Amino acid sequence: MTLNPKLAKLLNEQINNEMSSSYIYLAMAAWFEQTPYMGFAGWMFNQSREETMHALKFYQYVVDRDAAVVLQPIAKPRADFKNPIDVFETSLKQEQKVTQQINELFEVAEQVKDHASKNLLLWFLNEQMEEEKTVRDMLDRLKLAGNDPASLLVLDREAGARQAPTGSGGGTPRSHPGA
Ligand SMILES: [Fe+2]
Ligand SMILES: [Fe+2]
Repeated sequence: MTLNPKLAKLLNEQINNEMSSSYIYLAMAAWFEQTPYMGFAGWMFNQSREETMHALKFYQYVVDRDAAVVLQPIAKPRADFKNPIDVFETSLKQEQKVTQQINELFEVAEQVKDHASKNLLLWFLNEQMEEEKTVRDMLDRLKLAGNDPASLLVLDREAGARQAPTGSGGGTPRSHPGA
């Protein structure tokens, strides 16, 4: 079954959206690297890698469906943040935006009765639900910690201990054994 042109265009756009997310998270990691919060830096670095994997998953799907991959420039990400809460609030907004994008993709897949694409997009919708929850949980606890350095460092350590979700393919420099 040939990929519907409108769906092919949107799937290509999603490759770019995921790469943009990856870049946004990499900028957040870099911002945290300039602070004492090494755990949060590791969290955002892992998140960036996850988003690249998402982009590659869409890439592979477009290729497997025998459609053309068309890559676009990646927007410059925001580099300045007020505090950890500001970063995680931005992260939650980004995830909500991506959820909306994938919802729209799903609707188009449904309109053109492309069940294979719907299957792929359902995987992503579940992934989005998980990601939004993870970010929201951390944000809630950051708000609870407020400006208390001891509480913030506990959350930072917890963030640093968090493993990259399974299926992301191996560890990062930070999660490498002995690192
Ligand atoms: Fe993603
Ligand atoms: Fe995400």
